[in-house]
Amino acid sequence: MEWNDRVVVLDHPIVQHKLSILRDKHTPSSEFREIVSELALFETYEATRDLPLTNVFIHTPVAPFDAKQIAGRKVAFVPILRAGLGMVDGALAVVPTARVGHLGMARNEETHQPESYYDKLPRDIASRRVYVLDPMLATGGSGAAAVKYLRDAGVAGTIRFLCIVAAPEGIERLLAEDDDLVIYACAVDEGLNDDAYIVPGLGDAGDRIFGTE
Ligand code: PRP
Ligand code: URA
Repeated sequence: MEWNDRVVVLDHPIVQHKLSILRDKHTPSSEFREIVSELALFETYEATRDLPLTNVFIHTPVAPFDAKQIAGRKVAFVPILRAGLGMVDGALAVVPTARVGHLGMARNEETHQPESYYDKLPRDIASRRVYVLDPMLATGGSGAAAVKYLRDAGVAGTIRFLCIVAAPEGIERLLAEDDDLVIYACAVDEGLNDDAYIVPGLGDAGDRIFGTE
């Protein structure tokens, strides 16, 4: 499948520098958590580049001025628990007025299939621009289940999936299962190992964010 403009990789040097710190197994949870949040901020900045603007007439201290402000549909961030929680503060730093929905999913360590254990979305989710947050896109099982859940809840239009590290397998799966989805990632890695972990990846993001290794 052609990825074309459906996969956006943030190749900025600051992003790549911070990602290397995340990948290092010696990085402690406190620093790991901080960098996940910072990378989420950069990704949200990039993924909101096409938010529509409208004119608003204001007075600066010097002169009247036709200024711009954000218009149109409102924003919802939907972290996939647990690891996606680590991206919420960074995303909200960019769009403080966004609503936050939660989807709880844990990958079964033997089958690698996601098991859903919680969901709570804003009531008006169908009328919002939706940004799914999850640092890891591995097999794509959790991501695909989250996107399907959102479509069943009435979300129309482009869903933006913000992850930090993606495997090609997960990207292929998400793009194949939903034709109006754009993936943002800081890196696309080589692939998956026999345990369906991303290689080289950064390990278990949830465990590293919350110190549960
Ligand atoms: C991780 C990660 C994704 C999922 C990715 O979560 O945060 O949600 O695995 O794997 P997949 O693409 O193969 O589905 P995990 O299920 O380990 O739960 P956690 O966030 O609670 O650690
Ligand atoms: N989940 C993670 O946290 N890391 C991986 O490499 C794969 C799934």
